[in-house]
Amino acid sequence: MSHASTYKPGTGIEKWLDKRLPLVRLAHDSFVDFPTPKNLNYWWTFGGILAVCLIIQILTGVILAMHYTPHVDMAFDSVEHIMRDVNYGWLMRYVHANGASMFFLAVYIHMFRGLYYGSYKEPREVLWMLGVVIYLLMMATAFMGYVLPWGQMSYWGATVISNLFSAIPVIGDDIRTLLWGGFSVDNPTLNRFFSLHFLLPFAIFGVVILHVWALHIPGNNNPTGVEVKDVKKDTLPMHPYYTVKDGFAIVVFLVLFAAFVFFNPNGLGHPDNYIEANPLSTPASIVPEWYYLPFYAILRAITFDIGPISSKLGGVMAMFGSILILFVLPWLDTSKVRSMRYRPIARMWFVIFVIACIALGWLGGKPAEGAYTLFAQIATAYYFGFFLIILPLLGLLETPKPLPRSISEAVLHKSSKAETSAAPGVKSAAE
Ligand code: HEM
Repeated sequence: MSHASTYKPGTGIEKWLDKRLPLVRLAHDSFVDFPTPKNLNYWWTFGGILAVCLIIQILTGVILAMHYTPHVDMAFDSVEHIMRDVNYGWLMRYVHANGASMFFLAVYIHMFRGLYYGSYKEPREVLWMLGVVIYLLMMATAFMGYVLPWGQMSYWGATVISNLFSAIPVIGDDIRTLLWGGFSVDNPTLNRFFSLHFLLPFAIFGVVILHVWALHIPGNNNPTGVEVKDVKKDTLPMHPYYTVKDGFAIVVFLVLFAAFVFFNPNGLGHPDNYIEANPLSTPASIVPEWYYLPFYAILRAITFDIGPISSKLGGVMAMFGSILILFVLPWLDTSKVRSMRYRPIARMWFVIFVIACIALGWLGGKPAEGAYTLFAQIATAYYFGFFLIILPLLGLLETPKPLPRSISEAVLHKSSKAETSAAPGVKSAAE
């Protein structure tokens, strides 16, 4: 939220810098004294958690790159060298590999939070769309990173996914050749994927800065979805209130992260990726990492031609469409009320949407046959129906519950209710 600067440079050097490049002022006004709604719950800590994930990935990635060799004859062995010979190389690699999963776990929670509380709605459309750009970049980065160890899943996953581009009419084959740098996944592919995998996280970093900038113009949404009316009554300074809350959540998140790294470091990976890539031997089943599975299920759910569109192209369109549709979500949802806390019917459809996404994730890991395909088709239809039919219609048809007049009213109302319900307990304890 744009607010008057409260920064007062203390020392001479701070005054000197403030006149020339007011960086400390910017940091102070953005992260110390930033007026933040007083009712944010723990779902709002995931933005900070994501920032930590990005930093961890960049730091461990840069160290791994010092010892990794992007060549088809050496890549697999160089990763084994990192695991066995490099001091703490095993730790860097396991943190980086599991870090990707933790990053996606956090981003999915962050996105579902935004969906539930209507954080994508006016005036936060650009903030949301920048989030979708970040998400697309994350998907591309993780995909290319997974190719680098040059195991069987790296090779065959890259082959399957890059082959999808050939379904695009006219230019599809050329795009695929460009991605490969030749006529199959080979050394040039590994090289360009390594180069881009190194570059893209910095691009993500740049878009995150825009994301946070776009957040700071309207300020945070909050669980009621009601805008800040009175800065004094409705908000608290970000520090210490939310720095402490975010800090606590980050520690809890890191405990879960550490549990994976130290107790089950390969639990989320595929054992076939410990077999060196072999272009002459296709694995029994080619399964992407868990965070791609819902989209893999959507891709494979289109088993039929739609007019001139082949099933393969239809699958590719549905898969990309399922992410691209998020860009127009702010205009698809017609409801004036942001938070689903006050939209009981929308909330019910939202719960089914979450179940459909989890089901798609599960189905993406199953063979594309029989009942699995049928369920994936139903869940895919629901996924698109939720955005294209349910949200546009509900906004017009649903009568929301009455909204609190302000954030402070919602908070005070809740605490006065808590006091009255606590009173009998207090009394009986005294008796
Ligand atoms: C590297 C990835 C990301 C980082 C570091 C990041 C960072 C942040 C931070 C620090 C906040 C403020 C705290 C919070 O509300 O949790 C935030 C808010 C938000 N982010 Fe992200 N974000 C990322 C990805 C995404 C993605 C993928 C989306 C959606 C597609 C998204 C959508 C939003 C929205 C809508 C808000 C405003 C929430 C509100 O105030 O209610 N972000 N983000």
